[in-house]
Amino acid sequence: MSGVLVAYYTKNEHCTKIAHEIATKLHGRVDRITDYNRYKGTLGGFIGVLDAYFEKTTRIKYEMNPEDYTAVVIVSPVWAGNLPPAVRSYTNENIGKMKNYGFILSDDKPVRKKTIKRFCQQMPEALAEFSTLDQDIDQEIFQKYLEDFADRIRIIIEKEDYYGKNNTRL
Ligand SMILES: Cc1cc2nc3c(=O)[nH]c(=O)nc-3n(C[C@H](O)[C@H](O)[C@H](O)COP(=O)(O)O)c2cc1C
Repeated sequence: MSGVLVAYYTKNEHCTKIAHEIATKLHGRVDRITDYNRYKGTLGGFIGVLDAYFEKTTRIKYEMNPEDYTAVVIVSPVWAGNLPPAVRSYTNENIGKMKNYGFILSDDKPVRKKTIKRFCQQMPEALAEFSTLDQDIDQEIFQKYLEDFADRIRIIIEKEDYYGKNNTRL
């Protein structure tokens, strides 16, 4: 087990950009979570709002096993103030297998405390988190938050992959 996995879900590709940027900073692998197009298009978006609101899960597909990585970063949009069903499914299936993890949220309105609370309930041992607005992704402020987030994950990686569990250099 070593390194960083960045698992992300997206409908409109903002999270794709975030996932690739954080993966570059952490030299991580990227894995896209897909939902067999259940939420494609305008009607799909409408169904997505309802499913997210009622905290539904959905059938998903992804490639990599989070168990193989020292740390996992989950990148997710906010849907109806909640987790998209695909991210709920992914965390239900995998959170117990993750040794260290953090999450990044992307939304189009300032994130509410209630929303953060819902994500934290699903990922209760997150070591780091932050949220960004769509329109900030190309701004300096986003890079600053992303770097702070990356630092917190780097500390774990350096401790566990480089020095090993007993703090002895491997
Ligand atoms: C079905 C759906 C529901 C959404 N609900 C919210 C919401 O409740 N609050 C919010 O701030 N943004 C909401 N958004 C906007 C997305 O969270 C935001 O645009 C996000 O960055 C999209 O990420 P993506 O481009 O990777 O899909 C919603 C978008 C969709 C498609």
